[in-house]
Amino acid sequence: MAKLKTAVLISGRGSNLQALIDYCKSEDSAAEIKLVLSNTPGAAGLDRASEAGIVSKVINHKNFSNRKSFERALTETLENYSVELICLAGFMRLLTSSFVKYWHNKIINIHPSLLPAFKGLNSHERALKAGVKFTGCTVHYVRAEMDTGPIIVQAAVPILQEDDPESLANRVLIAEHRCFSHALSLIAQDKIKIINEKVLIQGPKAPGVYFLNPIE
Ligand code: GRF
Repeated sequence: MAKLKTAVLISGRGSNLQALIDYCKSEDSAAEIKLVLSNTPGAAGLDRASEAGIVSKVINHKNFSNRKSFERALTETLENYSVELICLAGFMRLLTSSFVKYWHNKIINIHPSLLPAFKGLNSHERALKAGVKFTGCTVHYVRAEMDTGPIIVQAAVPILQEDDPESLANRVLIAEHRCFSHALSLIAQDKIKIINEKVLIQGPKAPGVYFLNPIE
């Protein structure tokens, strides 16, 4: 079966990109990364792409006079590579509603919180401030409003008493890598339907009944 032609959009370090590269390298992967795009020249993730032999390009938003023309360049490049799915992996530009509509149900994003809680930046700081015992990460289809859209996979990550934003971010990142490749594999295997803006997964494996934090 043909593999799902995927693009990964990054702005920085690219550890989530690496998780997707590793998944796509596995024998039974149903997706292939055709292209990595960065809006930031010199982003560390670009080296990960070249090490994996994947085409990468920089489309620097600063070279465009407005969002529309930047996004036109993105779309043109994505279409040149016949991309069928766009993964936002730490891509730090907001996308306009017309871009999101054009690529409807073809863009997924990873966010480091259990959405709809803690949308936007600094989610770990805010989770710590709120005193919640769990946070986590979410992979979701992208809609025009920031950090919204049908949720594909989430992981709950416990917050420990001694956590600071950095230690928490490091723990959540481990879950992000797992969630993102899991979501990509579900989509690539055509196991997902979106009905009334909710994701239905074919034959999902159920997790435990509940998780306790702190444990007794
Ligand atoms: C991740 O925490 C992601 O959830 C957020 O930005 C970070 C990117 O990290 N949107 P990396 O570039 O994938 O290492």
